[in-house]
Formats: sequence, C-alpha cells, structure tokens
Amino acid sequence: MTDKYKYIGPLYDFLSTIYGGESIHNCKRAMLTNEYIKPGTKVLIAGVGHGKDAIRAAELGADVTVVDISETMLKKLQQAFANQPGQLKVRVVHADILTFDEFEQYDMVIANFFLNVFYKDFMLKLMHHLVRCVRPGGAFVVGDFAYPSGNPLKQLVQKGYWYIAAIIFYFASDNAVHEIYNYPELMKAEGLKITDTRHYRYLGMNCYTSVMGIK
Ligand SMILES: C[S@@+](CC[C@H](N)C(=O)[O-])C[C@H]1O[C@@H](n2cnc3c(N)ncnc32)[C@H](O)[C@@H]1O
Repeated sequence: MTDKYKYIGPLYDFLSTIYGGESIHNCKRAMLTNEYIKPGTKVLIAGVGHGKDAIRAAELGADVTVVDISETMLKKLQQAFANQPGQLKVRVVHADILTFDEFEQYDMVIANFFLNVFYKDFMLKLMHHLVRCVRPGGAFVVGDFAYPSGNPLKQLVQKGYWYIAAIIFYFASDNAVHEIYNYPELMKAEGLKITDTRHYRYLGMNCYTSVMGIK
C-alpha cells in the first residue's frame, strides 16, 4: 500500500489547527456526545488519521474500530493513544476501507474529512460502502467542509478557503481537487434521513459541518 501521507502525515493535525483553529477538531467530535454514544456503542471511523474523534468515542465508552490505509497516520494515532491516561478500547485496522466488509455491524460510522480526499465517482462508491457498514437504524456521520451558503461573496470566499487546502493536499498527498460536496443531499440520495446538523464557524464563515443521517 502506498503511503500518500508519509511526509505530510506527521504534521496533519498541526496543519489543521493552523488552517482551521479548533473548529475542525470540534467538528470531528460533534456527534460524539452522551446523547448518541453509550457504553458499548459500536463505532467505526474510516480514514481516522490522528484520531481525536476515536479518543473521544472511546472515552465515552464506545467500542471503537478505526481503519486507515496510511502507516504514518496510524503511528501518530498510536502515539496519541499512548498519551492518554488509562487503556482506550480501540481496535486499529491498517487497511483500505474498501476491503473492510463488516456490513450492518455498526451503530455509528464516521467519515471525518475523509470523503473530500476523493473525486466524486469514487467518493460516492466509498460513501455507499460505509453506509453498508451501518446497522439498520444506525447513524452515518460526515464531518467536513460545509457546502457554501450565504450571499455570493461569502460563498466565493468559502470556496477559495477550501481550494487552498485542496491544492496543498493535491501536491502533498495526491488528494482530489473538486468542488465542495453537498453531503446532506448525497446522504439523502443514499436513503438516509438527516436528523442532526452542526455548524462550526471560522473566519466569520460556516466553514465546517457535521451531518448525521439515520439508515
Ligand atoms: C484528510 S485525512 C483525514 C484524517 C482524519 N479523519 C481527520 O479528520 O483528521 C484522510 C485520511 O484517510 C486515509 N485514507 C485515504 N484513503 C483511504 C482508504 N482507501 N482506506 C482507508 N483510509 C484511507 C488517509 O490515510 C488519511 O489518514
């Protein structure tokens, strides 16, 4: 497996903080609250990266499985776990998520800043695959760049802000450059019912959104 995050991976969370302050990290943990996570709730996090969301889920008592294709990202994740007090209950899977076929097993499947890495056709294939991992009645959560809203000038600035990140990661890790995806609409097209949406502001804009869809 090629590790596209070999060079930028170690800096990923640090760069996120510079680029989006705490709003990105808060967006990733938006649905990880006592309201949705009980001890034993089965949570799958795809393309987990450094794993701030995995730590929060495990702290709430969830039974967490994380999957990532990058060895570099998983090393940072393990370091983050080692810095936590106590033993976190997290199963770490080093794999391409498309080879992970635990269908209809999870109460909550999370894709945080994961689907935006791909061009639309492949992203839709991944979203469909992840939704298959959700049990009937379970939740699929996407935390990512918010679809542009507000007046045309605000939308332009919001798009420009996204393209800065997209272009940096195009060169750093061969990520896709594309328009901002409208996740709520794409999730509805997957047959999910949107039940919760939380916005995270940065630089005066609604830059990030966490969306929950029920299967
Ligand atoms: C943009 S990073 C987001 C990381 C993390 N979710 C976050 O919010 O910080 C995308 C992550 O997806 C992982 N990834 C990319 N393609 C993958 C695949 N096919 N299967 C599993 N993980 C993948 C990358 O290694 C990387 O850790």
